[in-house]
Amino acid sequence: MENKVDAGLAIYVHWPFCRSKCPYCDFNSHVRDNVDEARWSRALTAEIAHTAARLESPRRRATSIFFGGGTPSLMPPSVAAAVIDAIARHFTLADDAEITLEANPTSAEAGSFRGFRDAGVNRLSLGVQALNDTDLRALGREHSAAEALAALDAAQTVFPRASFDLIYARPGQTLNDWRGELKQALALAGTGAGAGHLSLYQLTFEQGTPFFQARRRGAIQPLDDDVAADMFDLTQDMCEAAGLPAYEISNHAAPGRECRHNLNYWRYGEYAGIGPGAHGRLRLQGALCAVKAHRSPEKWLAAVESKGHGGEPPARLDQRTRAEEALMMGLRLREGVGAERFEAATGVPLRTCLPASARQDLIEGGFLAPGADGLRATAKGRNVLDAVLGELAASLQIPAEVPVVS
Ligand SMILES: C[S@@+](CC[C@H](N)C(=O)[O-])C[C@H]1O[C@@H](n2cnc3c(N)ncnc32)[C@H](O)[C@@H]1O
Ligand code: SF4
Repeated sequence: MENKVDAGLAIYVHWPFCRSKCPYCDFNSHVRDNVDEARWSRALTAEIAHTAARLESPRRRATSIFFGGGTPSLMPPSVAAAVIDAIARHFTLADDAEITLEANPTSAEAGSFRGFRDAGVNRLSLGVQALNDTDLRALGREHSAAEALAALDAAQTVFPRASFDLIYARPGQTLNDWRGELKQALALAGTGAGAGHLSLYQLTFEQGTPFFQARRRGAIQPLDDDVAADMFDLTQDMCEAAGLPAYEISNHAAPGRECRHNLNYWRYGEYAGIGPGAHGRLRLQGALCAVKAHRSPEKWLAAVESKGHGGEPPARLDQRTRAEEALMMGLRLREGVGAERFEAATGVPLRTCLPASARQDLIEGGFLAPGADGLRATAKGRNVLDAVLGELAASLQIPAEVPVVS
């Protein structure tokens, strides 16, 4: 099914390189002595052309671009300019397209901010992580708190919109420590013309990372679950009171300042992934497909140079998978999963998949909120979303006779 009105496409571009690898991070990020930037620029633009050509409608509208990583602020701004230019040539880039770049807050990278703005970036997402030097060192970060604050100030001056990330529930952090730090963060995020957005992530111990090993050895003591849950609740309350309510589990914004690119994922909209390890959800030959690229930067580069793209063959998503994904993404949002959007994505009405009887226990437990039109998790439910999703998946009813709708 091709929409009569093009709902637009979000385009994610992955830059897989970092100056050093942080011990908690399991993103597809790599440290390399030399990166041939001109070669990477050619490969990224080639994959953009290939993606545009494989879509059924000749010129899809691109409503947002997100440069993520790794550390895309290490790219020369000329590479960002070439990528944006390629997207504008192969797609219809919306006049008000949101173009975000993730950046590390070192002084070297802050020096490139104007170059990125001139290339077309209009939103910066800065990985501050902590506001004191002791915790930044413990997180293995290469910048000081003062450097991060200077980079944030520069970002808020140079870009129309700027957000920053903090990681909380860090080993040794107390509820009071976090209260003080969040207060400072809200003062920084709530002021200035381009401010109004904050991403606050609870530290997770990802398998395979040095932090994961250290926890296993007992060298790092994670916070008690109850303390982490109290920090989550405190975060909701303080952000709400400061006018930056949570619109997603970890994302807080003043009304109208939400990240539109990420909202598109959570609303289960269509998106394309460019670069190593990037994922996409695209309608191909009438069916919603998962598109995934090789994770290894070298393997991806070689594939693009030999065949024009670094992707594995697209996989059609069946109705159960689409229903599970729409719930998994949508329940992260405060607004929840809309009945209409769910049905458009899956071909099955939400009330058929999840009749009232399947929701009742979770509603009575205070994890889901009742609602005739759609489904939404409460803050309590969003804090334990994996468990909520597990229960919902177990009671999901996909009628076999419904034909595949795409
Ligand atoms: C791709 S990374 C960051 C971009 C940039 N390279 C940086 O480090 O600032 C996106 C965000 O994920 C968060 N993150 C990464 N690993 C995490 C973990 N194990 N637990 C919680 N948050 C994490 C960090 O806040 C980080 O800013
Ligand atoms: S947190 Fe950022 S800088 Fe650190 S390794 Fe991950 S992507 Fe790279």
